[in-house]
Amino acid sequence: MLQMGGDTATIEEEFLRDLSLNFLLAGRDTTALALCWFFWLLANHPNVEEKVVAEAHHVIGAGNREGKLVLTRSELNRMHYLHAALTESLRLYPSLPLDIKHIVMDDILPDGTHVKKDDKLVYAIHAMGRMESIWGSDCSLFRPERWLDPCSGLFSEAHLPPFHYLAFNAGPRTCIGKDMAYVLMKTVASTLLLHFRVVPVRGHKVVPKLSITLYMKYGLLVTLEPRIGLAKESQVEA
Ligand code: HEM
Repeated sequence: MLQMGGDTATIEEEFLRDLSLNFLLAGRDTTALALCWFFWLLANHPNVEEKVVAEAHHVIGAGNREGKLVLTRSELNRMHYLHAALTESLRLYPSLPLDIKHIVMDDILPDGTHVKKDDKLVYAIHAMGRMESIWGSDCSLFRPERWLDPCSGLFSEAHLPPFHYLAFNAGPRTCIGKDMAYVLMKTVASTLLLHFRVVPVRGHKVVPKLSITLYMKYGLLVTLEPRIGLAKESQVEA
């Protein structure tokens, strides 16, 4: 038994082990897969990649860090376009394509559907991310701009009903690692893209694998090409 700051608050080692394992299982592949699909989408949408890199230059710059690139939370928060692009990527390729709920008692859902105790309720996050009735006629396009407020240019979800975007679920059962996932994804994506182009190997087939998590069936084979002229490009004022 571990003590947590006083005599009264204690935590069982077994509970702590399960909690840590849960975080590892829930947070590792989900974040890694989100980045794989993101890099693949960027490689196929050079106009989006250009904007992501321009923003990273603008916010982080590339020099004056003595070879070390340590990002602050405030810098990450200022990368609105990257945030929008990652969110859009997860709309089309949610790391968890399906979610299942076990019904604990008879109930009626807001749309009038009756559900019975011990039923299973499965909802398809992948399909919902591509429904025209939710996202409009451009639902199948990768368009990060849909997440930017047209006036301020800042990332915003305010225009969406809360249960339309389900990559992290919504409501009280929203993924508790959501903020951390964005910190991880934005850190990796911005630092990597600032220095390299992620170029998929020609002819390599990228298709989803039917699984509880949205793997790529054959993985993502890429080469990393150093960005030429980085120092010159990075002289954008932050
Ligand atoms: C892109 C990355 C991620 C995605 C798309 C994602 C998505 C989700 C979704 C859809 C759920 C299900 C919520 C529910 O229906 O109850 C969930 C649960 C959860 N997530 Fe995440 N997640 C991500 C990253 C992370 C990270 C980085 C962590 C922690 C470090 C994390 C920790 C958890 C935990 C602890 C749960 C609850 C699991 C449970 O109910 O047992 N997630 N996540």
